[in-house]
Amino acid sequence: MRSGERQRQLEDLLRHYRDCWHPQPFRELQPDWCLAYPALSADLLALDQAQFDALSADNDAALVWLASYLPEIDALRSLIRVAPAAAVPPSPVGERWAWEIPGRKRAQIEAFAGSARCSGQPVIDWCGGKGHLGRLLAGQWEQPVHTLEIDAVLCAEGERLSLRQRAEQHFIVADALATMDWPQRGQHAVALHACGELHRRLLRQGAAQGVRRFDVAPCCYHRGVGDFYQPLSSGSALALTRDDVRLAVTETVTASPRLARRRDREMAWKLGFDAYRRASSDAGYRTFRSVPAAWFADDFSGFLQQMAVREGLPAPLAANCAQWEVAGWRRQHEVMRLSLPRQAFRRALEIWLVLDLAVYLEELGYAVNLQSFCAQRLTPRNLLISAERAD
Ligand SMILES: C[S@@+](CC[C@H](N)C(=O)[O-])C[C@H]1O[C@@H](n2cnc3c(N)ncnc32)[C@H](O)[C@@H]1O
Repeated sequence: MRSGERQRQLEDLLRHYRDCWHPQPFRELQPDWCLAYPALSADLLALDQAQFDALSADNDAALVWLASYLPEIDALRSLIRVAPAAAVPPSPVGERWAWEIPGRKRAQIEAFAGSARCSGQPVIDWCGGKGHLGRLLAGQWEQPVHTLEIDAVLCAEGERLSLRQRAEQHFIVADALATMDWPQRGQHAVALHACGELHRRLLRQGAAQGVRRFDVAPCCYHRGVGDFYQPLSSGSALALTRDDVRLAVTETVTASPRLARRRDREMAWKLGFDAYRRASSDAGYRTFRSVPAAWFADDFSGFLQQMAVREGLPAPLAANCAQWEVAGWRRQHEVMRLSLPRQAFRRALEIWLVLDLAVYLEELGYAVNLQSFCAQRLTPRNLLISAERAD
């Protein structure tokens, strides 16, 4: 299926089910869809921990489960499937290139390098950090590489590493959002996890400057978005708020049991405070600033006292704190379960955002291929847009 048709079908489904993924159960005591789909809401709330964990860990299983209540959702399963790139085994550049890179990061870089294809053009490595990817490609593709990065310290460190390896790699300290000098005509632009507006500018500016080939793995799509996402491709009518766009990247690599317990407790305590706040004033949910980690090291009553002072609420009675803690855990149980439909749409939103970029490039005459460059457990941001134009 062509990217434009796939984007249109995905967009129809996202618009149809917007009420199920747009509201945030953390903020709303009962999202409106609970009234529209009472059986779904009741069955979600009745999920035991093992059932809930299984559906949270497996998006396809969650979509199958949800399809008994929201039948059209079944079509999402094929629309969000992305083929893995046929990886080329790395040519023998030796182990030395990667001495100082943490294991997971190194595996991501090697997977990206094995999935992108050498075009025989000089390379620009966009927002390249210490230039690990550029350094690897300089060795594997035997092309000169320019690594553009805003942080001069990272560039200096990258230069040291590239000199040690005698790579033909040059560092440019520049702001990717402002430079008019890069990328340049005929270059092959690569970008691994350039956030939000950084990857969008690469595509806009690069296409205008005559970049021949792009290999881009986007991330943090919400960075640089104002109130609403502005699609790059023409003809889209999906209005995504910044929070909607952020939803696409809230999926993280599965947390360890210890971290999961800590995350659950922090959410329960914040919701316990929210329950106290709602009872103490008649306003609905109000966002609050991030909470210092040290406040979670205390017990719940200490946490609640500190939150109440900071947010200008009357101090809670010590004898009532247990009641708010119980309320927080009850809400945490509900919020986690009522968030399942929202979470099941995360990948669909991400694929739509990536298709927006792919269709934009197609409209400009590029032949575009969308693949995944590694397993989602290595990084959830595993999508790779490869685009080539013949001029
Ligand atoms: C997530 S890191 C990715 C680094 C590298 N591509 C990698 O995968 O190891 C994003 C990089 O973008 C850089 N960056 C952020 N804003 C930038 C800007 N306006 N211009 C250039 N680089 C920027 C950051 O300093 C950081 O090194």
